[in-house]
Amino acid sequence: MALARAKVNLWLNVVGRRDDGYHLLDSLVAFTDLADEIEVAPAQELSLEVAGPAAAELADEADNLVLRAARLLAGRAGVAPRAALRLVKHIPVAAGLGGGSADAAAVLVALVDQWRVAMPEEELFDLAAALGADVPMCLAGKPALASGVGERLQIAPPLPACAILLVNPGIKLPTPAVFAARRGEFSSAQPVDKSWRGLPEFVAELDRRGNDLTEAAVSLRPEVADVLQALRDSEGVHYVAMSGSGATCFGLYDGIEMARQAAARLPAQWWRHAGMLLPG
Ligand code: C5P
Repeated sequence: MALARAKVNLWLNVVGRRDDGYHLLDSLVAFTDLADEIEVAPAQELSLEVAGPAAAELADEADNLVLRAARLLAGRAGVAPRAALRLVKHIPVAAGLGGGSADAAAVLVALVDQWRVAMPEEELFDLAAALGADVPMCLAGKPALASGVGERLQIAPPLPACAILLVNPGIKLPTPAVFAARRGEFSSAQPVDKSWRGLPEFVAELDRRGNDLTEAAVSLRPEVADVLQALRDSEGVHYVAMSGSGATCFGLYDGIEMARQAAARLPAQWWRHAGMLLPG
């Protein structure tokens, strides 16, 4: 079984746009204990079964990224795409948590093993980038400073230990629509040249950076502003922002108990997960 962990963009600055329409980013990404599970079994052909609490959200996606990842790997490795894949879906879909990208990365890892593919790491990362801008960071699975369109990765300094509360008001926000709704100047990329000495210093940096897609997401779905406000109003919260292109927002807390208490006070219809931010 391979874990496909949800990613959060602790900051996300949009620093330019390429001729092909993709945006250039400066982002700190990290992973959480929320994860989908990928199971792989030998079979005569390629199949995918989807289960788990968020499975219904995938029902209308004809060509799941997981199957595309399997076919692409088989093609590049010159093997027949034979495997029975099972995806247990916990991460909300189209939520800014990179769930589909994490699933694709986990399936690559699982099938490299299953099919005994000997592929240099660099080639596997290229293959990941061909599947989506966020797939390489999920393949790396560690806190990273992302640039380019998200595919250029540098190891991040260790993150201070903290708990995270993820909240989604139950809406899917397609990434292209959010980028298209973004207005205003681009931010300038700012290199990270030091480690953070504890949560207050880390939070000060997060405050300076923020998420440049927040306004665009709120313009499409005003509920995102309600989620941000509810998190800001929660006791013990150190930092609040939206992840990726939304609509999931997060709050950072000293410990899991504070995050759970905040989770318990949210409107019942909102999806939430209180867990840990993985430091590295
Ligand atoms: O690479 P991925 O399939 O995840 O991207 C989905 C869409 O999000 C792209 O087609 C593009 O419209 C937008 N995007 C972007 N800039 C990025 C990443 C994604 O404009 N860096």
